[in-house]
Amino acid sequence: MKILVTGGLGYIGSHTVVELQNSNIEVVIVDNLSNSKIEVLDKITEITGNKPEYHNFDLSDKESCSKFFNENSNIDGIIHFAAYKAVGESVSKPLTYYRNNLESLMNIMDNMNSNGIHNLVFSSSCTVYGQPDILPVTEKAPRKQAESPYGNTKKMAEDIIQDTIYASDLKGIALRYFNPVGAHPTALIGELPLGVPNNLMPFITQTAAGIREQLSVFGDDYNTTDGTAIRDYIHVVDLAKAHVIAVQRLVKKNNKLNYEVFNLGTGNGLSVLDVIKSFEKITNKKLNYKIVGRREGDIEKVWANTDFANQELGWKAKQGIDDMTASAWKFQLTL
Ligand code: UFG
Repeated sequence: MKILVTGGLGYIGSHTVVELQNSNIEVVIVDNLSNSKIEVLDKITEITGNKPEYHNFDLSDKESCSKFFNENSNIDGIIHFAAYKAVGESVSKPLTYYRNNLESLMNIMDNMNSNGIHNLVFSSSCTVYGQPDILPVTEKAPRKQAESPYGNTKKMAEDIIQDTIYASDLKGIALRYFNPVGAHPTALIGELPLGVPNNLMPFITQTAAGIREQLSVFGDDYNTTDGTAIRDYIHVVDLAKAHVIAVQRLVKKNNKLNYEVFNLGTGNGLSVLDVIKSFEKITNKKLNYKIVGRREGDIEKVWANTDFANQELGWKAKQGIDDMTASAWKFQLTL
């Protein structure tokens, strides 16, 4: 089996490449290094003992994309990660986000159609649910108005995939991630945020490492147990493993519908203070943080109902928050 992983040098992409290779699946990576580093290729090779084939070009460039697929039509499936993902930046540069995230997807699907590649796994997000009315949220919950152009690209991409599948013989799985955190147990790969991190876990580890002075906890007046917002944090290695299962499901024709959607979370909601407590316990360090006002666009609480993924994919997240904070910290110490 040969799988194309777009964005395969990025955070979730690189962990997925490792898990694919560990399952003896041949991997081709396309990544234009817009938010990743070429060194990750060597780290993947160090972990698995196997250097994946690598191509550097922009998937939103139609010609480069067609050229690649014309020369590489022997691909059994695609896991499409490559996309811009900074929520705040998407608000100030909407066209950059729509163009990059949607044109690359459409170029890929055009070339799948013309090259007889039928199987697509797409990297979606729980952001499509907004603030759900019922928790834990199931895949059947209505998708809400996106909070940002980034979130809207995920929602629109799901629609583009669903409509294209309906009109062709393509098959697809959209995986809606909750909050991926943590790093590979070897600490050779992990999250490498550019500049000041937006997300909680890298901000925590950078603060503890002395790179940031203080963590701001955004809001303690939410309607939650301790007043801070609740998310479903999932270990990136658990998440990566679900991709291997999803792409095999399509290639082996075990899918029940041509377009399927799965939540990837642990099913446990944790507050910001819960994550900080885990970090302090695991590292034996006091974290410098202060409570500040709410962050614009944040939702109060969300966690996944994972029954469908557990039953249909035979997959379950195994690692808890302490594994996540410990591995994130171990990786931070290598930087
Ligand atoms: N938080 C802080 N301080 C920080 C950073 C985050 O208190 O410095 C809080 C947030 O307010 C939130 C929680 O930690 O309550 C998690 O925040 P993240 O930024 O790590 O994650 P989000 O849930 O905001 O982001 C996720 C995905 C995005 C997606 C977004 C949609 O990472 O891809 O949900 O809401 F777009």
